[in-house]
Amino acid sequence: MPNPPSLRAFAIALAALAHSATSQAAPDASPHAAAKAIYAASCASCHGKDLHGGGASSLADGLWQFGGGGQIRRNIMFGIPEAGMPAYGEQLSDPEIRQLVAYIHDAHDQAQIPRPELPEVISTRDYDLSLTPVAKGLTVPWAITFLDHDTALITERGGSLRLVENLQHNPTLHAQPIADIPAVIAAGQGGLLDVVADPDYAQNQWVYLTYSHGLPKDVAEGSSKPRRMTRVVRGRIRDHAWVDHEILWEARPQDYSGSRVHFGGRIAFSPEGHLYFSVGDRGGMNRAQKLTQPSGKIHRIHPDGSIPEDNPFVTAEKDVYPSIYTLGNRNPQGLATHPVTGEIWETEHGPQGGDEVNRVIAGANYGWPLISYGINYNGATVTERTAQEGLQQPIWYWNPSIAACGLTFYQGDPLPRWRNNLFAGGLSYETLMRLVVVDNRVIHQEEIFKNLGRVRDVQTGPDGALYVVLNSPDTVIRLSHQATRAGSGDGNAQPTPARP
Ligand code: HEC
Repeated sequence: MPNPPSLRAFAIALAALAHSATSQAAPDASPHAAAKAIYAASCASCHGKDLHGGGASSLADGLWQFGGGGQIRRNIMFGIPEAGMPAYGEQLSDPEIRQLVAYIHDAHDQAQIPRPELPEVISTRDYDLSLTPVAKGLTVPWAITFLDHDTALITERGGSLRLVENLQHNPTLHAQPIADIPAVIAAGQGGLLDVVADPDYAQNQWVYLTYSHGLPKDVAEGSSKPRRMTRVVRGRIRDHAWVDHEILWEARPQDYSGSRVHFGGRIAFSPEGHLYFSVGDRGGMNRAQKLTQPSGKIHRIHPDGSIPEDNPFVTAEKDVYPSIYTLGNRNPQGLATHPVTGEIWETEHGPQGGDEVNRVIAGANYGWPLISYGINYNGATVTERTAQEGLQQPIWYWNPSIAACGLTFYQGDPLPRWRNNLFAGGLSYETLMRLVVVDNRVIHQEEIFKNLGRVRDVQTGPDGALYVVLNSPDTVIRLSHQATRAGSGDGNAQPTPARP
């Protein structure tokens, strides 16, 4: 969390003033010449001549205390006043800031500073957690699900479904991906997305997938800019191959688009056996308010793809998607089932600022883009309004955004103090947050870790450990209860009563 204005920030600012900003960069023919000159004049005094070694933090080590990805641009534009980072939005143009960000990214690539090794233990308020990698050497893993106590499936965004066996004692990633997985379009934020085992997997062996794919016509014609969309399917795995493939939901062809962003793609099952899934706004924010568009929505179907008769918009006019359950959702990247109430909870990416936690309520409108706690990535205001009658307020929001991704209510036995707590990952903030929820309100937040990697997914495992899917490093880790530490053992802790 950002520190209050500190002596340190003050000292850094003083040092910057003292530094002669007249030190000119030599003529330079590299693609970053312009950015280098701006950097030397405006940034080097605090962040160091070579993007590290200054009074302020390194910009070349790939570790972002205040968010990577789009947040870097935001932090340069708006500054981080509480930490002593000035705002440059007035002084530098948008293209100049973009050039700076590209320069910083390249500097990081060139510096090849290895990320610190993952720690073996993470200390939190209640527990010391052992950290064990259960699958390494993946490529952009996106989601994890458990087939039984000892077996997990992991999606890789590029289009592979991977099997981990012997999860508990000697986790082993099967060298071959599952064969015959449907073709995906892996570009931008799209590709093979969520994987969820049927709640009755032991009886029926169904596995559910979401992915982005192209219209058959565009694919057949080899279009360079195929229109694409999220799709929901199920199948079974037999002899290490995908069989019994069934398409459960897909959009009408006219609702596919060339956009490479905001596919949503999370799945969750309610205790009554409904399948909920998310579709982001596909980069077209006004779609989120239209019931004739599938984008910017949470949908609800039966596990065989049929539409529940009591869906909220089932009897609306004919062009409305009957699968729509809620609207006004920007890009939901977390869906989880509340263990006590059975309600579905959701996290979604706001624009800059305003990542939300919502309860998914039939027919509710979550307001994107009419209301939001965020502003656009280029600094433009999307809306002045944060509230409006008839539109849901989030249960909780993060500003600045953590890029909320992955969501689970903890339900295991080994960490009883955390039972029914909500765990939310953050991509750009590289963080795992624990939210204590009482009476549908978040009363406490703890950052479980920071800067171990971009958190893509988090799930409670069959052993009651937390499994976290990280990107860079592309690793799945298990966080399990380490044998007691002084003063905080759970030897005589009472299980937390179930709190709705
Ligand atoms: C007056 C000193 C100063 C100047 C000048 C300055 N910064 Fe910073 N910057 C800071 C401080 C302090 C932080 C907070 C991190 C820390 O404590 O070191 C920071 C943070 C950042 C961060 C976020 C780092 C993270 O870990 O998330 C970025 C990105 C950044 N600065 C980029 C720039 C760029 C680009 C420039 C030039 C246009 C610049 N800064 C100029 C002091 C400065």
